Amino acid sequence: MKHLLSIESLSATVIESILQGSAVMKASRGHHTSQPLQGQVWAMLFSKASTRTRVSFEVGIRELGGQTLFLPASEIQLGRGEPIKDTARVLGRMVHGAVFRTFGQNEVEEFADYAGIPTINALTDAEHPCQILADLFTIREHRGDLAGKVVTFIGDGACNVANSWVFAAAKLGFELRIAAPKGFHPASELLARAGGRVRCMEDVAEAAAGSDVLYTDVWVSMGKEAESAERLEKLKGYQVNGTVTRLAKPGALVMHCLPAYRGKEIDEATFEANAGTIFDQAENRLHAQKAVLAWLRD
Ligand code: CP
Ligand code: NVA
Repeated sequence: MKHLLSIESLSATVIESILQGSAVMKASRGHHTSQPLQGQVWAMLFSKASTRTRVSFEVGIRELGGQTLFLPASEIQLGRGEPIKDTARVLGRMVHGAVFRTFGQNEVEEFADYAGIPTINALTDAEHPCQILADLFTIREHRGDLAGKVVTFIGDGACNVANSWVFAAAKLGFELRIAAPKGFHPASELLARAGGRVRCMEDVAEAAAGSDVLYTDVWVSMGKEAESAERLEKLKGYQVNGTVTRLAKPGALVMHCLPAYRGKEIDEATFEANAGTIFDQAENRLHAQKAVLAWLRD
């Protein structure tokens, strides 16, 4: 049984085949020759808000012949304390696959263990693998092979998206730089586990210099709202703006996983100047996730 639980758990070969599959899905949208989810119903279990992930899976599953069942955690017994392992065993008897957005990585892993159906991590506090697969695909479309490139993440370097970038760098052989204030760098245990060329620093200018890609994410991830004031204060020097982009390679890609908070992690002018890339990233969620779904069914 295959699952997509993290970038950490994917081999470079599987990532490569998903990226190739993403290109095929994109080129053949509207005239797919196979419908790998024909006759299937997939549960979409969400404990956190979502626009892109929800819509791209709802549309992608249907375009591959399946149907979806959107289950906000607050509206099922899971939200009233029913254990994940019981929810998993019930859904596993009724649906053919699950897409799960939640808090703990252990929750998605426990669900996969008990449900006995292909399970996809649609974001946890630890990782956001679907986002990073779409981002890798987007970089490839715009700039070709990632090997030898420098990707620089600026902002909350300890968030789920940054963590998934750390594992991607190790597997695909590009240099990842993370510019973040003290207390917002990836855990040293995670860096050691991942390996790869990851350089963590506090100096944004040093990190941005000569980068091929500048990437950012929100300063206050879902579930961290109680820390908002402290985060906005500590991260305020870590905005992607004109000063920072001028230090990167000419024509460097500026990327954001969205949703974006203008005036916080990115300024309005930089966001709008790079909206083409940023909304390609959003669209590519659909194509990359369809490739993931086809791989899970393979
Ligand atoms: N980037 C992303 O996962 O967006 P949503 O939270 O809207 O799904
Ligand atoms: N780090 C962000 C990503 C949103 C897609 C969060 O977890 O809220």
